[in-house]
Amino acid sequence: MPRTASQGETSKAATGSLSAEFHATRALSEALVAPLSDADASLQSMEDASPAKWHLAHTTWFWETFLLREHAPGYRLYREDWPFLFNSYYEAEGARISRAARGLLSRPSLPEVLAWRAAVTDAMAPLLDDPNLAGLIALGVAHEQQHIELLLTDIKHALFQNPLGPAMWDGTLLEAAPAEPLGWHNHPGGIALVGHDGTGFAFDNEGPRHRVLLEPFALADRLITNGEWDDFIADGGYQNPRLWLADGWGWVQGEGISAPLYWQDNQHFTHQGWQTRDPAAPVTHISHFEADAFATWADARLPTEFEWEAIAAASHDRAGGNQFDSAAPPLPIGGPGLFGDCWQFTRSAYLPYPGFRVAEGAVGEYNGKFMSGQVVLRGASCATVRGHSRASYRNFFYPNQRWQFTGLRLAKDA
Ligand SMILES: [Fe+2]
Repeated sequence: MPRTASQGETSKAATGSLSAEFHATRALSEALVAPLSDADASLQSMEDASPAKWHLAHTTWFWETFLLREHAPGYRLYREDWPFLFNSYYEAEGARISRAARGLLSRPSLPEVLAWRAAVTDAMAPLLDDPNLAGLIALGVAHEQQHIELLLTDIKHALFQNPLGPAMWDGTLLEAAPAEPLGWHNHPGGIALVGHDGTGFAFDNEGPRHRVLLEPFALADRLITNGEWDDFIADGGYQNPRLWLADGWGWVQGEGISAPLYWQDNQHFTHQGWQTRDPAAPVTHISHFEADAFATWADARLPTEFEWEAIAAASHDRAGGNQFDSAAPPLPIGGPGLFGDCWQFTRSAYLPYPGFRVAEGAVGEYNGKFMSGQVVLRGASCATVRGHSRASYRNFFYPNQRWQFTGLRLAKDA
């Protein structure tokens, strides 16, 4: 039986709202595929990305495997051979198809996956009010929210491959407010407590809470914009090796990179197809290498994850800003808070905190085994389900990846 990989306690009083959150999250996942055909939902554009249909199925596998199979008396798997298709990376759950082959699953069809979802959602009902399962259910909700964001970014990448530039949603583009001149949140430095404080749900990688020493620093009060990125390009940013980390320069040259992902002339690809870029909106779909080069060009640097957390924990609403509320096109528009629009690169390697222990059982595979070669991102994006993230939340990607809504907030030494 897997133990939850979450931190902290979920109180009995919270189980009622947990049930509502479960149903809202399940419904939101399904609302995302309403504009998609079975063919759209089966596309896999690269190994890093998964088909929309696979996300819907994998999250359902998670509930069936870790909740229903373990805790619902007499539960029988919906299909005995489907776990092989929809286990992501849990070695403890046995063999599975290779990640790169997820786009070859024309069967089960999207309607069959949706029928499985309905059956699993119904079967979960008796478990939702069990206080002993609240931690595991909170983990399942958070897991499905993560896949909502991945579904959004993966389908964007898949539709981008089509020369017709198909829109997932029609409608009016959100307009960015004019970007204010860059200001700074100043911090005097000192010993800061970082990591999750144990109130409410958190992933295991957010703890244990511990002390870090911060030197005096400043964190920018807004994200870098498309217009500022245009200036970086115009100044030869992608041609100047002195701005780049060695691995980044190798990546720029090897891949022929000259702009953020999805950029072409003054346009960029969005969930609403090709659109004119708004120079006032935050730049997004950049790699860690690009963010670092821009910061060097701007005579600044990336923040450490603890600098970011010290500012966020003191004064910023984790549920504020431009985050994902309903099935509608996500797009960064800018704003004053630390959460929303884009995940923000830090210069921190994704490593375990002092005293971190991997939980026993399959769910212990959730985070810890990925602590190698990746960098931490903080905040939340326009595709993050509102309220999913928090000040201690640690997102992580490899430094060359940029299909997520990634952006840049500068920092500097005081
Ligand atoms: Fe997953």
